[in-house]
This record gives sequence, C-alpha cells and structure tokens, in this order.
Amino acid sequence: MKIFTTRQEVAQYFTYKTGKTTGFVPTMGALHNGHISLIKQAQQVCTEVVCSIFVNPTQFNDPKDLEKYPRPIAADIAMLEQAGCDILFNPTVSEIYDDDEKWHLDIGNMEHLLEGKFRPGHYQGVMQVVNKLFNIVKPDMAFFGQKDYQQVMVITKMVELLNMPVKLVMCPIQRETDGLAMSSRNVHLTAYDREHALILSKTLGWIKEHFNVDSIPELQQQAEQMLNNEPGIIPEYFEIVDGDTLKPVTAATKKVVALVAARAGKTRLIDNMLIY
Ligand code: PAJ
Repeated sequence: MKIFTTRQEVAQYFTYKTGKTTGFVPTMGALHNGHISLIKQAQQVCTEVVCSIFVNPTQFNDPKDLEKYPRPIAADIAMLEQAGCDILFNPTVSEIYDDDEKWHLDIGNMEHLLEGKFRPGHYQGVMQVVNKLFNIVKPDMAFFGQKDYQQVMVITKMVELLNMPVKLVMCPIQRETDGLAMSSRNVHLTAYDREHALILSKTLGWIKEHFNVDSIPELQQQAEQMLNNEPGIIPEYFEIVDGDTLKPVTAATKKVVALVAARAGKTRLIDNMLIY
C-alpha cells in the first residue's frame, strides 16, 4: 500500500492514472470491520481504492471528544494492508487547513435535524472536509456507511448542490454478533456501558418488528421508554422518520428509518435501522 501525507503526492500519483476507476473511503481511523466493509465494497466495483485517515477538527463540537478520539495509526495501516487497500492518504491538520479558514454551504434544514440539533456545526465541518478530500483524491465513487445515515444524506446534498462528479454509495451497517453497531468510539465503553449499550440496537429491532404506519407516535413512545428504563443510558433522541427527507412520515413516504442517539456512560453512540 502506498502511503501519502501531502496533497502534492496524491496529485502527482494521479497524474499518471489511466483508465482506472478510483474508489474512495474517507475515515477518521481507529479502523474496525465497518470501515473495512467499505474498502471491500469499493474493491468490488473500482480498480483502485484510496482510504483517508484524518481526524477532522472542524466536525468536533466537543474539544474533549476531539482530544480523546483514538488514533492507533500502526494498527490501522496493518488492517488496510491486510484488506488490500491500494493507497492511504494520512495528512496532518495543517496539510488540509489554513489557519482560520471559513466554510459554509446552505443545505436547508437537513443539517439542523437529529444529529444537527445535538451537534451544532458538525455537518458543516463534515462537508468542509469531504469537499476538500474529494478535490484532492478526485474519486469516481465514494463509499459511506449507513451507520451515519444523516451524514450520507448531507454529503449527497452537497454533491448535488456543487455538481461534484462523484457517485456516492451507501453501505450497510456492520454489527458485532450481539447487535452493537461497530464504532471507533466503542473502545471507550466500559464493560457495564457495553452491556447496556445493546439497548440501542434492541430497541431499533423491536420497532422494526412492530412497525405499522398508523402507530408511529405509540412506537416512538415505546422506544423512548425502553431507552429511558435502561440503566446507564441517557437517550438524546429516538425518531421514526421518512428515510428520504428525515421529516415526519407522510402518505408519500417510500422508506422509513428509525434513528437513535444516546450516551452510554461518557460515550455518545448512534445507530439506525430501515424499518419499512
Ligand atoms: P468515521 O466515523 O471514521 O467513519 C468512516 C466511514 O465508516 C463512514 O462512512 C461511516 O459511516 C462508516 N462506518 C462507521 N461505522 C460503520 C459500521 N459499523 N458499519 C458500516 N460503516 C461504518 O464518518 C466519518 O468518519 C467522518 O465524518 C468522515 C466522513 C471521514 C469525515 O471526516
């Protein structure tokens, strides 16, 4: 695997590319099988796969969260080698940003819903860095996990608004065998948190099983009760919404998604499930 740390190295490498399709998997590292599933999916449809590892400061609204974000770069490189990734782009913060760079793209209300409500400015930071990374790597296709459902929608909107020539692919959520959605933040869970964190996927599964459009408010209430009753868990939101708009379900809704965010001890977790 080639490892590049500067934009120039990436640009130089791609000067010579001919007739290859480049698949891109942006990450913040602390890789797990969820990330690797994106690499594998990219390998199925592209001739060359680029992964980036960059802990993007502009998308963290909590400086402590940024500081304690895991950065096991040697283990990450080993995992990417093992997966057969072709190129790793692993820049420093100053390689990506000037001192006080500004970014804003109006994507309407989408950035203020759900995650946006609890993490103000988060999606502007995500768009800012993904836009930069797309401009550097110039991928034909980019792969994102359903784990961050709203993130996929936000990036889709950005790509549409800026007419970016990249095809986005959303890949399924990878879970541990007991249902916990894989996440870089899971390493922060204590054994106690880890056990009670299972209520997120359990609640989503229960809602999917009992789904019936007429009873959405009742289901929502049930879900909130399940989460509230779980020791060590502090729910932030549980919402059942239209999977295309993230707004309330209407007669025109084609797919329904349930999304949840909660704190397990000191760790903030998110999960979601397509329920219809
Ligand atoms: P990160 O949290 O590292 O995730 C990188 C990619 O892996 C995202 O597309 C995410 O949805 C996907 N992913 C994470 N856990 C997954 C799981 N259990 N199953 C499937 N896919 C999973 O998301 C980011 O980084 C950043 O916001 C980024 C897009 C890199 C911009 O900084």
